[in-house]
Amino acid sequence: MNTRVLTGITTTGTPHLGNYAGAIRPAILASTQPGVDAFFFLADYHALIKCDDPARVARSRLELAATWLAAGLDPERVTFYRQSDVPEIPELCWLLTCVTPKGLMNRAHAYKASVDQNAAKGVEPDDGVTMGLFSYPILMAADIVMFNAHKVPVGRDQVQHLEMARDIAQRFNHLYGSDFFVLPEVVIEEEVATLPGLDGRKMSKSYNNTVPLFEGGAAALRAAVMRIVTDSRQPGEPKDAEGSHLYTLYRAFATPEESAAFRAQLEGGMGWGEAKTALYERLEGILAPMRERYDALMAHPERIEEILRHGAARARAMAGPALQVLREAVGLRNLGAQAADKKGARAKAAKGARFVSFRDADGSFRFRLLAADGQELLTSQAYADPKQAGAAMKRLPAEAQLRATGDASYAVQLDGADVAASPEGTAAGTIDRTRDALAELAQ
Ligand code: TRP
Repeated sequence: MNTRVLTGITTTGTPHLGNYAGAIRPAILASTQPGVDAFFFLADYHALIKCDDPARVARSRLELAATWLAAGLDPERVTFYRQSDVPEIPELCWLLTCVTPKGLMNRAHAYKASVDQNAAKGVEPDDGVTMGLFSYPILMAADIVMFNAHKVPVGRDQVQHLEMARDIAQRFNHLYGSDFFVLPEVVIEEEVATLPGLDGRKMSKSYNNTVPLFEGGAAALRAAVMRIVTDSRQPGEPKDAEGSHLYTLYRAFATPEESAAFRAQLEGGMGWGEAKTALYERLEGILAPMRERYDALMAHPERIEEILRHGAARARAMAGPALQVLREAVGLRNLGAQAADKKGARAKAAKGARFVSFRDADGSFRFRLLAADGQELLTSQAYADPKQAGAAMKRLPAEAQLRATGDASYAVQLDGADVAASPEGTAAGTIDRTRDALAELAQ
């Protein structure tokens, strides 16, 4: 089974070199590994929580999409979409909101930080706190469990949100009595050290110490590299490579051998000016081809739009049927079908045996046949399409061929193919109960 890896990128800024090395590059590399089914999306609904500047949100969506594509994201391989193009996500967010304890959200770090700041300022605890900020983790949980992601690579600051997503998913599963959602696991890239900025602190827009990725072209890249802060050692004097963030930056874009050679040169007295030129040339060598793709994409936003819509269509093909199952589960059901169900249910209730459908950990759809006392009689095969599962379930009572497959085990066939089998460890004689249950339901 493939591992589904999913991550979201909030569309509030312009990506810099630190974002590239810390998030974009490792995510794209992960998406090319065999057995990985990658879902990357632009978290533009999340952007609205942090930013009320429409022009900035619009610009950032475009730049981020172009950056990821230019950096090598293959939209045929990766499901790449905008959160706001998948209406199933906010709908699921509401279903989850209705099972999320407010107390859980009270404990969110981002919300607590706002409350603490307000206390320090001597204003109302919730001053300036929107419901968007407060419910942020629920929308994030919806992003993740909508697609039953197994692994979610994020920065350290997001770990609590992942714990909350698991909590919320588990609560929903428990309340509605089935394993609807996979519980996602957080992945922290320990290897990828945070890239230092020009002044040696973490590269971040809030410190104004970033190296631009594509903006401003080669000239802006060179200018930023030349502004990297170094010590005052002169050319000819040995430099402390390990202690210099210029070397840390170089290492993030070089093989271990190249880094060792660079380090030896610094320790041998290479001047900082020369070292900066070497770093610039290395970065430019890597970024120039990407920048060319980036510029070409930015010149044709309609092509990016097309790619993202295609991604959204793929995402919705999965989200739609999954949401249908969830709507059913919570009671948002087709009224016409319900009347028929009710009659059926009454008839069945008298006899007792029943089918229950559920969603498996891998996202596939299955059903079980239960006896009146709840004993599990059959488990179906996995279906990718819930409609197929439903159709098989309907036909089973009248058409199934039941046959023993071992001392106690048995299976049922439709059209000559196995569609369901006895659960593991079934007691001898259960095949007779199963035959009776199917006969009951066939009436
Ligand atoms: N909150 C994440 C961040 O700020 C972005 C995000 C939104 C996300 N939804 C997600 C990340 C789902 C992973 C999975 O970095």
